[in-house]
Amino acid sequence: MALQAPEGTKDLLPDEAKFWNTFKQTAADVFGRYGYLPIETPMFEQTELFVRGIGEATDVVSKEMFQAISGENMKKLLAGESIKSKSRLSLRPEGTAGVVRAVVQHDLVPQGAAPVKLMYAGPMFRAERPQKGRYRQFNQVGVECLGAEAPTTDAEVIIMLMRFFTAIGIPAQSMRLLVNSMGCEKCRPAYRELVRAYMEDRRADLCDECMHRAEINPLRAFDCKNPTCSAVMDGAPKITDYLCDDCKEHYSAVKSYLDAASIDYVEDARLVRGLDYYTRTVFEVQVVDGLGSQNAIGGGGRYDKLAEEVGGRPTSGLGFALGYERCVLALQAAGVEFAPAARCDFFLACVDETTRQTAFGLLQMARDAGFIGEMDHQSRSLKSQFKLADKLGARMVVILGPDELAEGKIKVRNMATRREALVDLETAKGVLARFGGQPYGDQSALRLEEVFPVEE
Ligand code: HAM
Repeated sequence: MALQAPEGTKDLLPDEAKFWNTFKQTAADVFGRYGYLPIETPMFEQTELFVRGIGEATDVVSKEMFQAISGENMKKLLAGESIKSKSRLSLRPEGTAGVVRAVVQHDLVPQGAAPVKLMYAGPMFRAERPQKGRYRQFNQVGVECLGAEAPTTDAEVIIMLMRFFTAIGIPAQSMRLLVNSMGCEKCRPAYRELVRAYMEDRRADLCDECMHRAEINPLRAFDCKNPTCSAVMDGAPKITDYLCDDCKEHYSAVKSYLDAASIDYVEDARLVRGLDYYTRTVFEVQVVDGLGSQNAIGGGGRYDKLAEEVGGRPTSGLGFALGYERCVLALQAAGVEFAPAARCDFFLACVDETTRQTAFGLLQMARDAGFIGEMDHQSRSLKSQFKLADKLGARMVVILGPDELAEGKIKVRNMATRREALVDLETAKGVLARFGGQPYGDQSALRLEEVFPVEE
């Protein structure tokens, strides 16, 4: 059997790959208005970064990390030798830890500086059990804002996330925004102990894994998918009843800014998110129908301790990431059709082989002038060439016949109106040549109809 893509991965074929580019461009446009600039960090990092940043009790770190190991180091490990801790690498399961590491390493938020606003888009890797909307390699678009503590910034990133979903076409009524506050290092430890005690009292009803979690980070038990555990955790103390005054004030300010911006949200005191770095505001956007259990299309929150965790000075921060593949599912569930990617402005059809040389030269000139053009490379019949032009979505077909060429003419057909006209080849070349020397991307001014006028 021919080899297949690995389990839990997905090829983005040209139409979808093109949509992924549009998706990233929309993100850059929306987030750019809020001052976000791109950052690219490596797809693998020291494993220790994820252990310290995301937390070793999380599923993401304890069960789902793909280790990245060189062949040489693998041999050493198999031989029972040890390898340096900096050689223990993992594929990134998410983007936040790497971006915060980069911000600390390059000192992007010097003391007293304005917040740094960064955005990224690319693949993340989690060794989860694949299912609808859950992949082992998936694409995220994310933002991170470092050096910002004010509740306006929390509201700003949430508004920005909702604006993005709307911009790509997910209907507002099919989304639900959940918000919560997870407290800070002042109020959360006491709350965590309360949850631990609550769990101890119900040890018999909780799975072994939850009880193990209870020892490291009891809040992780809120993520347990086991229905019995979930029912027990439903009755656990609620974090919002135990917030310190500062966290309470911060949370209520965030909500008031969301209210002022007319953003609908639901408060969910059980929303703890699956990563340990969060403090204070957390949020998640779910789609209401059509995605089954993997219905979170994006989520994020504040992480005021993460920079210290990875060795930097205290720097507050917050951000979110959204899952591209789940957004596509949400768009499909909402019945949104993708516009087929425009592939071809015009097609050059050769009546016989003698015209091929002229067609080849003209096609190159048209491409240099900014048009998407194609010709046949397999000596097809004229009829098949027209079929191909149709398939490619060509707006115009330029027909090169030996008789017309002998008189310096080419025939142009508008594929929508079926109108045809004879056009002077040298004139068309002259128009193309005027635009041909300009840099790529600067040629939008020229219209195909000016080169090949069909309609009078
Ligand atoms: P997360 O909730 O783990 O957060 O992931 C964000 C989004 O990535 C999810 O809402 C989901 O849409 C998508 N996603 C996660 N896992 C998968 C998967 N296996 N297959 C397909 N899509 C998936 C984070 O990653 C945080 N770094 C967000 C953040 C940024 N918080 C602060 N800054």
